[in-house]
Amino acid sequence: MLGMIAPTSRTDRSSMSFLQAVRGVSEERAPIWLMRQAGRYLPEYLAIKAKSTFLEMTRTPALAAEITLQPLRRFSIDAAIIFSDIMTPLEALGIAIEFSPGPSIAQPLRSRVQVEALALRGEIAPFVGDALRLVKAALPDNVGLIGFGGTPLTLAAYLIEGGGSKEYAKFRQFLRHDPAVVHLLLEKLTALTIAYLRMQVAAGADAIQLFDSWAGLHDEPTYREFGLPYYKRIMDGLADTGAGRMFFALGASHLMEAIAEIPCEVVSVDWRTDLRLARKQLPGRALQGNLDPAFLYAERGALAAEARRILKAGLGGAHIFNLGHGIWPNAPIDAVAHLIETVHAYKRT
Ligand code: CP3
Repeated sequence: MLGMIAPTSRTDRSSMSFLQAVRGVSEERAPIWLMRQAGRYLPEYLAIKAKSTFLEMTRTPALAAEITLQPLRRFSIDAAIIFSDIMTPLEALGIAIEFSPGPSIAQPLRSRVQVEALALRGEIAPFVGDALRLVKAALPDNVGLIGFGGTPLTLAAYLIEGGGSKEYAKFRQFLRHDPAVVHLLLEKLTALTIAYLRMQVAAGADAIQLFDSWAGLHDEPTYREFGLPYYKRIMDGLADTGAGRMFFALGASHLMEAIAEIPCEVVSVDWRTDLRLARKQLPGRALQGNLDPAFLYAERGALAAEARRILKAGLGGAHIFNLGHGIWPNAPIDAVAHLIETVHAYKRT
């Protein structure tokens, strides 16, 4: 059996469609993966979830690796994203997080004393590294492996608010009330994130995506003060690793000029951003995106037409097809398969 499997080499991996696009090569076929593709809508994931808690699933490398690989058994997607959460590394700073199902923090951080007490205790989520190594060993040479983290500002939104929220009023009040403490927190989260992402690359991640899921809360001056400097440091801190650096911000069409300053190879845009405009605003970058996740519920012909419209808008440079935000938990599986076939069938030349 082993003799039938081609030996893995760096050269083989670097020729894969996903990594080519990450490096800016405009290819004949757009590679595709889907944000939040592991878990959620897959019955084989729900079967595991029925027997384990979310924390058990993320902390048990064999389970996390299995969940990461599940969508690859069904679909011919071009990259796998490790099953974990943006909140996972925070435990190493001594922060207790529960999931119900969104993250919740028993003691939200709203004082200098609390933030000053945050210090690294032990390794940062070593089980994520173990899971990445298991996935890498099982992954075909033509499929990329993506590690990820949350941006400091998005992590701070959860930590200060105490959990998810529509308006993040407490977070936004605290940002204005005590900006110096917020900066101290962002400093600590930045150092944590650089170490955590470097660990993921060392464990085999070909690319890293930074999720700025709450970018849309901020106006540009606020984003330039509390977001951008830290994101630049994180991406600069990964430069020597050779891993592809991908940045995703939700609801950030108004922040594109600032985002264009982030050193990274790929900018992932949400469904409200016109890819042709993003191409002009982000010269030389590979673009990723940006199908509205709700289109997976459209009639087949309408879904395919919308996918082709996006593929056309993505011409003129490297394009990695993706959704404009994470796939929804009840997404129809046959629509996902149809989308992937449609994208792979489209010739960009
Ligand atoms: O889905 C995947 O591809 C697997 C990995 C993954 C999870 N979270 C698993 C998860 C990824 C990439 C994330 C990222 C994440 N987590 C983001 C950034 C992406 C985005 O959607 O904007 C954010 C903001 C979070 C924070 C978070 N964690 C939320 C809002 C929730 C609530 C429920 C949900 O699924 O969105 C979680 C919990 C969480 N993270 C679950 C899973 C599978 C659900 C756990 C459960 O159902 O018990």
